[in-house]
Amino acid sequence: MKAIKDNAMPARTLSKKATINFRSKTCASPVSSSQIRSFRKKVYDYYDNQGRDLPWRKRVTPYRVLVSEIMLQQTQVDRVIEKYKEFLSAFPDVKTLAKAPLPKLLKIWSGMGYNRRALSLRKLAQVVVAEHKGRLTSDPDILVTLPGIGKYTAGAVAAFAFNKPVIFMDTNIRRVFIHEFFRDRQHIHDDELVPLVRLTLDTKNPRKWYNALMDYGAVLKKEHGNPNKRSVHYTRQSPFENSNRQVRGRIIKALVAGAPLTEARIVTETGMAAGRVRKNLDQLAREGFIVKKEDRYLIE
Ligand code: ADE
Repeated sequence: MKAIKDNAMPARTLSKKATINFRSKTCASPVSSSQIRSFRKKVYDYYDNQGRDLPWRKRVTPYRVLVSEIMLQQTQVDRVIEKYKEFLSAFPDVKTLAKAPLPKLLKIWSGMGYNRRALSLRKLAQVVVAEHKGRLTSDPDILVTLPGIGKYTAGAVAAFAFNKPVIFMDTNIRRVFIHEFFRDRQHIHDDELVPLVRLTLDTKNPRKWYNALMDYGAVLKKEHGNPNKRSVHYTRQSPFENSNRQVRGRIIKALVAGAPLTEARIVTETGMAAGRVRKNLDQLAREGFIVKKEDRYLIE
C-alpha cells in the first residue's frame, strides 16, 4: 500500500479563515479554504486509487447499510465481510429479519461477539415492521430512538444509505482529523474535531466523502501508529482471551449446534472454568438468549 504523504499545516496565518465553534468559545479556525481543498483532494485521491471494495457499498439500501453498521460497531472490517454476506443471504430484508428464529440468528452472528447486537437488530426490525411500515427513515433524530442505534449509527445510516449531509464521529473519522489538524496536540476532545468535520464535509456527496474518510482513517492506523491515542475518548478494547465475551461466545457456539446440553456438558464443550460457565449461563438466561428446561440449556 502506498504511504500517505504528510501534509503539515503551514505555520503562517492564512487569510481566509472560517469562524467555528471550538468548545463553546467562538474563535477563528486555523483552517483556510485552500487547506480544506487540499485536505479533500488528498482524502479523495486516496479513495479513488485505493478505496476498499466493501460489499455494503454495492447495491446500497437502508437495510443493507444498517446491518453493516451494526456489525461494524465492535468488529473489524475483515471479520465482518463474510458474516455480512451470510447474514444478508439468510435475512435479505427487514421482514425476514423481524421473523428470524433465534438459533439461526445467533448461529450466523457467532464469531463476531457481542450477541446482544444481533438481538437488538432483530428487535429493531420488528419495530420497523410494526410501527414504520417496514421502511427505515432517513431522519437521524428518529433513527436514534430505535433499538441498538446510537448517535453514530443514526448519522452513518443517514449519510451512507440516504446520502444526507449529516455530521457524525467515529474512530476512523477521529483518526483522520487528529492526524491532519492536531499534529502536535495531546488530549484532543471531539468537540474540537466536530467543527472541522462540518467545515470540510463534501455536502454534494456526503456518502462518498464519509466512505473516503473511513478508508483513509483505516490506513492511517497502519501507517502512523494510532493518532487516536491522543484523543481523550481513546479506549482499548479489553483482551478477548479469558474474557466473559469469550465464555459467552463458546456457550452460544455449543448451543447453536442444536441439542440441549447440561451444565456439565457445556463446561466440557467450552473448556472454560465451571464457575465462569455457571455465571455466564445465568446471565445469558436473564438476557433471553438461552432457556433452561429441566436440567438442560437450549436456544429457542
Ligand atoms: N466502519 C464503520 N462504518 C464503516 C463503513 N461504512 N466503511 C468502512 N468502515 C466502516
